[in-house]
Amino acid sequence: MPSPRLLVLFGSQTGTAQDVSERLGREARRRRLGCRVQALDSYPVVNLINEPLVIFVCATTGQGDPPDNMKNFWRFIFRKNLPSTSLCQMDFAVLGLGDSSYAKFNFVAKKLYRRLLQLGGTALLPVCLGDDQHELGPDAAIDPWLHTLWEKVLGLYPMPIGLGVIPPGVPLPSKFALQFFQEAPEMCSGEQRGARTEPQSPPSELQPFLARMVTNRRVTGPSHFQDVRLIEFDITGSGINFAAGDVVLILPQNAASHVQQFCQALGLDPDQCFMLQPREPDVSCPERLPQPCSVRHLVSQYLDIASVPRRSFFELLACLSPHELERDKLLELSSPAGQEELSQYCSRPRRTALEVLCDFPHTAAAIPPDYLLDLIPPIRPRAFSIASSLLARPSRLQILMAVVQYQTRLKEPRRGLCSSWLASLDPEQGPVQVPLWVRPGGLTFPQAPDTPVIMVGPGTGVAPFRAAVQERVAQGRTENFLFFGCRQRDQDFYWEAEWKELEERGCLSLVTAFSRDQERKVYVQHRLRELGPLVWELLDHRGAYFYLAGNAKYMPADVSEALTSIFREEGGLSGPEAAAYLARLQRTLRFQTETWA
Ligand code: 2AM
Repeated sequence: MPSPRLLVLFGSQTGTAQDVSERLGREARRRRLGCRVQALDSYPVVNLINEPLVIFVCATTGQGDPPDNMKNFWRFIFRKNLPSTSLCQMDFAVLGLGDSSYAKFNFVAKKLYRRLLQLGGTALLPVCLGDDQHELGPDAAIDPWLHTLWEKVLGLYPMPIGLGVIPPGVPLPSKFALQFFQEAPEMCSGEQRGARTEPQSPPSELQPFLARMVTNRRVTGPSHFQDVRLIEFDITGSGINFAAGDVVLILPQNAASHVQQFCQALGLDPDQCFMLQPREPDVSCPERLPQPCSVRHLVSQYLDIASVPRRSFFELLACLSPHELERDKLLELSSPAGQEELSQYCSRPRRTALEVLCDFPHTAAAIPPDYLLDLIPPIRPRAFSIASSLLARPSRLQILMAVVQYQTRLKEPRRGLCSSWLASLDPEQGPVQVPLWVRPGGLTFPQAPDTPVIMVGPGTGVAPFRAAVQERVAQGRTENFLFFGCRQRDQDFYWEAEWKELEERGCLSLVTAFSRDQERKVYVQHRLRELGPLVWELLDHRGAYFYLAGNAKYMPADVSEALTSIFREEGGLSGPEAAAYLARLQRTLRFQTETWA
């Protein structure tokens, strides 16, 4: 391969932008171009000035925010004192991934594009606006855009004479070579490299802390549809510190039965050990993998075999398949015309990579191990709102977690990787360790001692408010108003006794909405409306902060609607004034939300 010329930098929250970036990298290599693919925040941004050609692939999250792994870059690039010729050498292109059902559709990509122009970069083509809402997904916009992009790029960097594009059916060299040992060395049993139990700098993704699980208890009653767990970790000696509103990231593992199935399908011996060697000088080995590493460790702790594979997975499988029938099917599923079928077969029913491999047994059995890391993405950490305060429970960290399980048209129920794994661990059967670290969350609480807070957290949405109440009570802040909703008082009323005790001590005002304890549905927003005069008084006269956490589906919009109706009725505001009032609260961080799908 020639020396790297093209640089692809991505900001990815759920992995789609990263997948598109990897695809760009592969397409570049098919065009005989050297290419590096990196997360924006892992690239030294001052080096941009030396880059001839950069493609930015950026998702837009939530309310028009950049993904976490480009937040530092985002701050840097919008510094006021950057000279307007910072990027004068650079040709660039911006590919955005967004969702047109959100108001700020592809906000990050559009804003970045304008900023790069302002800093003296030259755009090769207009910004690409990938849209999740499109019936064919973001590829509907990406495919034609890439076509133009490659025309422009090859205009600048033509392929060597006599060489053409490497066709899609021919596999590119793998990123890594796996060199197997004949005899397993002692040390590759599966120790987590980087994971540690002694403090250095605060734990992070590269160096998680192996926390001991202390408690794993179901807190929903036997007749409740959902298995919700209160899980406690011991973080003694970790150097981990956190405040109310912060989140913990947990790195899950695949189920042992899945690891076994996978190894069987691919003809791998889980006890074999290997060294990983990058094939190109600018590629480095994943920090999370020990060297040497066992196949079992790789499959159980690194490869996300339970994830729903993307188009690139089928593209590569097609290249590697020795079986004509299977290869034809894989080629169809990875072709532009096959995207509807791919969605029917894979993304809609949430079929996993492991299940697909079992559907294509001849192909699976022929996958060279070298390609495993090209084929299957790494397991991603999962974020949970922290549900306890160090001030109330020193050296401990708790989460409130619903075990994710649902049915699609496939016979086997779909299970969340992280929640199923955590739920399966039983600290009473022997020591259990879980790799984790923390990061600041989206919620911050006021410092002033007499500022009231109103918290609305139905279901597991109450988790961050349990931390906030514990923290605030320990600090002597007693103006805490909590609206909690659940189905039935005797089935999913989390921490009932604790709230009662705090109410008796005068540290908490709790308002409950049990949706199914009577005929008529009662939700938190109904309680808010009933207490409209108090809510208005707290917000408008007492400078209260308002928080909302929980399921992202309907509840946030319903609660916001209840709030604006209170502003109209109690504050005498018109409709537009009420909306502006809410927007102002949001801008000044007096209305904060943390929601999850
Ligand atoms: P339901 O399941 O009886 O409809 C926690 O999940 C609680 O939130 C449950 O009591 C659930 O009620 C309720 N809930 C469901 N949809 C809601 C909505 N749109 N707004 C507020 N609460 C809701």
